[in-house]
Amino acid sequence: MTGSKTKIFGVLGHPIGHSLSPVMHKAFFKEKKINADYFAFDVDEKNLGDAIHGADALKFCGLNVTIPHKISVIKYMDEISEEARLINAVNTIKFDYVKDLIIGYNTDGIGAINAIEKNLNDGLKGKKIFILGAGGAARAIIFSALSNNAEISIYNRTVEKAILIGNDVKEKLNKYLKVVHLKNLKDELKDNDIIINATSVGMFPNADECPINEYCIPKGKVVMDIVYNPIETKFLESAKKRNCMTINGVDMLVEQGAEALKIWLNMEPEEYLINIMKKSIIKKLKNKPKN
Ligand SMILES: NC(=O)c1ccc[n+]([C@@H]2O[C@H](COP(=O)([O-])OP(=O)(O)OC[C@H]3O[C@@H](n4cnc5c(N)ncnc54)[C@H](OP(=O)(O)O)[C@@H]3O)[C@@H](O)[C@H]2O)c1
Repeated sequence: MTGSKTKIFGVLGHPIGHSLSPVMHKAFFKEKKINADYFAFDVDEKNLGDAIHGADALKFCGLNVTIPHKISVIKYMDEISEEARLINAVNTIKFDYVKDLIIGYNTDGIGAINAIEKNLNDGLKGKKIFILGAGGAARAIIFSALSNNAEISIYNRTVEKAILIGNDVKEKLNKYLKVVHLKNLKDELKDNDIIINATSVGMFPNADECPINEYCIPKGKVVMDIVYNPIETKFLESAKKRNCMTINGVDMLVEQGAEALKIWLNMEPEEYLINIMKKSIIKKLKNKPKN
């Protein structure tokens, strides 16, 4: 039961009602018998600084940050990690009460990389990855994958956003991002090992949408969707029909959560705990109301 000694964690976002973070973190604390609790907080942009400094004053142990605050939260940090600097977004905050610092991290990119590596039982070095999308999540995956020596191509509906990421990658990592245009999409996809949907296309309630036509998906590749609701998106359904190996968005969600726990608790969550977190999310998604 939550009491005065309970370690408090939470997630800040707006809206926040559908966040699955409390479910998986509570499952972890329960299994590990850690006296901790995790809450979802709906915070408006204008109150973001107060919310963070309030959590600091109340001796919260850690926070996650989600849409739309991942970039604007940076200005309230005393320090940010190298990943957060490269990605230019923070999704995890640690309150260091010894050094009196609020430190921002980004675990989205490493979460995606861990999900891929665990499914493939292999590293990303030299792998060719095609990213669909150029939003915040795409950006996190691109910087982390390039740091793991993968080669990346990108296609986005708004090509200018893909070009901007390409410029940033060149400036910060001195690496090259191949920006693909719609007319070359089908041909360019063939030349890759892993294809990742990092757009929000196919996300509930628009679950019948697919980011690309089924016949553009090359046969026999690894296909990942970072959308986790529904668990099996139309994109993954189509990829299976093309004999691709698929990785769903729940894996990334759980891995980025496990990385946050590592930062907060200075411990590596064992695989069985990661599986318990994953099961808690799958159970929640399968039991969700259908509207
Ligand atoms: N599994 C996980 O752990 C995890 C973590 C983070 C995010 N996600 C999921 O990843 C998705 C993207 O998140 P985000 O934070 O990157 O969002 P975001 O910054 O808003 O980016 C959205 C991306 O989707 C594209 N897009 C949206 N609607 C589209 C449409 N109708 N047709 C083509 N492209 C479209 C956008 O293209 P334009 O640039 O052309 O608008 C942009 O590239 C969300 O569904 C989110 O829930 C999952």
